[in-house]
Amino acid sequence: MEGYLVAVLVVLVAAAALKNVLFSTVSHVDLETEIDPERDSSLAKEAPTVVREFTPRQLSNYNGFDLEKIYMAVKGSVYDVSKGRQFYGPSGPYSNFAGHDASRGLALNSFELEHVRRWDEPIDDLADLSELERKSLDNWEGMFKGKYPCVGTLVPDPDFAPQPPAAAAADI
Ligand code: HEM
Repeated sequence: MEGYLVAVLVVLVAAAALKNVLFSTVSHVDLETEIDPERDSSLAKEAPTVVREFTPRQLSNYNGFDLEKIYMAVKGSVYDVSKGRQFYGPSGPYSNFAGHDASRGLALNSFELEHVRRWDEPIDDLADLSELERKSLDNWEGMFKGKYPCVGTLVPDPDFAPQPPAAAAADI
């Protein structure tokens, strides 16, 4: 009799387990909520880094204010400097660099706005830098490469690209 009861118990437990496997739903997953990894930094941290192109205008959103993440460009590469928020965040000493191409400022050892290109200006070709300024910029670039993940490259905004000579001539 005791053996019979144990057998019944085993069958009941097995049936319950089988039901869980066959008919379980994924009710713990909230399928309604849209997730934007750009705005949810906890998720973005775990997401693999996607290297993409940024125009100066797109880059300017990543200033730690409009978007939580902070990106800045150095010599054509875009770095995610979010972990340096104390430096580049809205109240940090180098916040002028956030969302911008910081190359000229780093070369000239200046965080003044006049040495940071606005998003609606062409990308700085840095052609007029002296040997010393170029070296200073290269040193800074080494620091950024070592400390921050590179998330993309800075590319010209097609809306602001100079017109090709043929198109310009046709306008006359
Ligand atoms: C007023 C004089 C300045 C002082 C006292 C100062 C001080 C500092 C200190 C204490 C650090 C942190 C160093 C570390 O973490 O080991 C730092 C980092 C830095 N400074 Fe300055 N700084 C000055 C001027 C400048 C200027 C003019 C620039 C403009 C290019 C600049 C750009 C930077 C950058 C880019 C970092 C690296 C932040 C990072 O780790 O991401 N600093 N500075």
